[in-house]
Amino acid sequence: MKKKKRIGILTSGGDCPGLNAAIRGVARAAYEMFDTEIVGVADGYRGLIEGDYRTFARHEFSGILTRGGTILGTSRRPFADMRVIGEDNVDKVAAMKANYQKMKLDCLVTLGGNGTHKTANLLSKEGLNVIGLPKTIDNDIYGTHVTFGFHSAVDIATDVIDRVHTTAASHGRCMVVEIMGNKVGWLTLYAGLAGGADVILLPELPYDIDKVAAKVQERNAARHSFSILAVAEGAMSQHEAALKKKERALYREEQHFTTISQRVAMELQARFPEVEVRVVIPGHIQRGGSPSAYDRVLATRFGAHAAELIRENIYGVSVAMIGKEVGHNPLEEVAGKIKSVPVDHQMVTVARRMGISFGA
Ligand code: F6P
Repeated sequence: MKKKKRIGILTSGGDCPGLNAAIRGVARAAYEMFDTEIVGVADGYRGLIEGDYRTFARHEFSGILTRGGTILGTSRRPFADMRVIGEDNVDKVAAMKANYQKMKLDCLVTLGGNGTHKTANLLSKEGLNVIGLPKTIDNDIYGTHVTFGFHSAVDIATDVIDRVHTTAASHGRCMVVEIMGNKVGWLTLYAGLAGGADVILLPELPYDIDKVAAKVQERNAARHSFSILAVAEGAMSQHEAALKKKERALYREEQHFTTISQRVAMELQARFPEVEVRVVIPGHIQRGGSPSAYDRVLATRFGAHAAELIRENIYGVSVAMIGKEVGHNPLEEVAGKIKSVPVDHQMVTVARRMGISFGA
C-alpha cells in the first residue's frame, strides 16, 4: 500500500485575494488523488521557524474558495535575515529544517511572492521537498505570465479609478491615484489602461514632471476640465532614478517626501494654481476582499497542479502559467529575479497610442 503523504502548507509575505482558493486547490486535489494529511503552518516562515503548526481536517478546506486573506495567517520574514543569527540566538534555517522533520513532512508548499520564493529555494537547496505557488498583486514573479491575486487587484484598482473619474469630472479636478506596486508597475499599467487614465507613472519609466504637467496642460487647453493620473507607489522622477538607493532615501528625507502621489500632486498644484489637485490612496483595499472569478480559477488550477507534482514526487519547482498552460519552473531559476514591465511592452505602446502620457 502506498504511504500516506504529509503535506505542509504556508502562506508568506503580503496577503492577496486567492490565497485560500489556492490552499483549497492543493488540499482538495490531494485528498481526491491520494492518501494525504495536511499540516497548516501559521504565519508563513514564522510558524516554520517557531514550530507553530497543526494538522488540519479535510472539512477545514471547505467554504474558503471565495474568502479573502489566508486561513493560515501570514508574515513578512525578509530573506536577507534568514541566515543571520540575531539577538534571539536562533539559527532560523536549522530551526525550519528541524520543524520540517518534526512535522514528518513529505513536502512543503509555500504560497508567496519574490521573498517567499527565495527562502523556498534556500530550503530546497538544504534538501527539503519544496513547491512554490506564485501569489502577489504585483504580478512580478519571474517565469509565470500571471500570479494569482493580480487580477483581483486590477479589478479593485480599476473600480477606484472609475469612481474617481466621475467625481473628478463633476468638480473639474486633477486626481492623482496611487496604486500599489513598489518595484514594478503591472498593476498600475493594467488599471490605468482599464480606467482610462490620462497619465500613468511606473517605476520602470522614471518621469519628467514637465512632461506630466504638459499632459495636464493639454487637457486643460482642450477644455477637458479634469485629469486622472494613475501613479505606482514605486514611481520616481528621472532625477531620483539617477541617484543611488541611499542617496535617493536621503534626498527624499530632505524633501520631506511622504508618498509619490503627494509629491506629484504638490508639483502639479504649484504649476496649476487654478486647478484643484487631489490625491487618492486606496492602499490595502487593493489586497482585500474576495478573489475575482479569474483568480479563483487560476488559484484552483495552480493548487491542483501542485498536488499533481506531489503525487509525482516532483519538487524544487514553482508552479507557473507558461503560455496558456499551467506548468512549473525550477525554483532556482525563479528565485532572486523580478519580472518588471519592459519599457517597450506592447501595452505601453498601446497606451501611448491612446494618448496616455508616461511622463517620459
Ligand atoms: O508585494 C505586494 C505589495 O502589495 C506591494 O505592492 C506593496 O508595496 C507592499 O505589498 C505593501 O506591503 P505591506 O502590506 O507590508 O505594507
